[in-house]
Amino acid sequence: MHASSAYTAPQWAAALSSVPSHRLDLAQLPTPIARWSPPDIPAAWEMWIKRDDCTGITLSGNKVRKLEFLLAEAQQQSCDIVLSCGGLQSNHCRATAVAARQCGMDSLLFLRTPSPEAPLPWTGNLLMDRLVGAQIQRITPAQYRQRTALMEEAAQHLRQIGRRPYIIPEGGSNALGSWGYIEAIREMATQLAQSGQSIDDLVFACGSGGTAAGICAAIALSGLPIRPHAVNVCDDAAYFYNHINAILRLWGISKPAETLLDIIDGYVGLGYAVSSEQELFYLQQTAAHTGIFLDPVYTGKALYALSKTLTQTPERFSGKRILFWHTGGLFGLYDKSEQLSALFPA
Ligand SMILES: Cc1ncc(COP(=O)(O)O)c(C=O)c1O
Repeated sequence: MHASSAYTAPQWAAALSSVPSHRLDLAQLPTPIARWSPPDIPAAWEMWIKRDDCTGITLSGNKVRKLEFLLAEAQQQSCDIVLSCGGLQSNHCRATAVAARQCGMDSLLFLRTPSPEAPLPWTGNLLMDRLVGAQIQRITPAQYRQRTALMEEAAQHLRQIGRRPYIIPEGGSNALGSWGYIEAIREMATQLAQSGQSIDDLVFACGSGGTAAGICAAIALSGLPIRPHAVNVCDDAAYFYNHINAILRLWGISKPAETLLDIIDGYVGLGYAVSSEQELFYLQQTAAHTGIFLDPVYTGKALYALSKTLTQTPERFSGKRILFWHTGGLFGLYDKSEQLSALFPA
């Protein structure tokens, strides 16, 4: 259904040591950029939003941009089953399962849960995984730490029975997947040039580092005068600088991520995918004031962090025009319906 076609990288990316050869056409692009006035943003700042929640319906969010490159490689290698991993309600795994199916491939997902024996819920991303017929293996957080070896082992077994597996790492965040956000910056730059707009700062959520790696490489190479800021929703700044630097080095970029990207640390809150009342309240206020929905795991925490940081340490922003990159994740809202109903009783 989706044939890959030959890919030409932006001219400014020619310096990179490895450039993908093929790309699939999976996402609805370009995603819109619109003016936006979410709550609690000090009046001195103007805001815009880039709607990667609109990259598709079942393929909604940032992961599909990475999958355009990853699944093109899987097709080039004549693979017939895609393996990946994430949390039980992983947006990445849902997008992978749906896109793989659209490309005629099966999927095998390793999903992390503290109670692997509990029945699988039919809700959120998991509902989509199950409807497209993804094979699901539930693994404990301890097993998840060995995810690379687990997926290798499963791929080995699949090869023995005549299948052709393709492994996608957590979040699709390797050098090839991150290329999706090199392209996304080219798309944004074209849109801004066409509309005559400028922005000073770019803010987005960071969960496995691939989006951040692509964005900081593209901004560094293209020379765009825009300062990127990533809000980590798990781990910490040191972990992500390390991971992003590893990807940058694979491309031959020696400039350290620490000089290219500001990581706004300190907003993991109660933990990965765990929402505080304040975060959910802010998410509700944003929907009620602007009609745009944030997800509880990524974009909700990122915008909440931005609103606080603008008040507490405004000097870390380079100007007064900020683009918030909405990276999707809306199916994650269904996972919070009980917590939301307790917070907002009828
Ligand atoms: C909705 C959403 N936003 C942001 C991210 C973070 O992107 P990355 O994993 O590339 O850091 C993810 C995935 O982790 C996601 O699902």
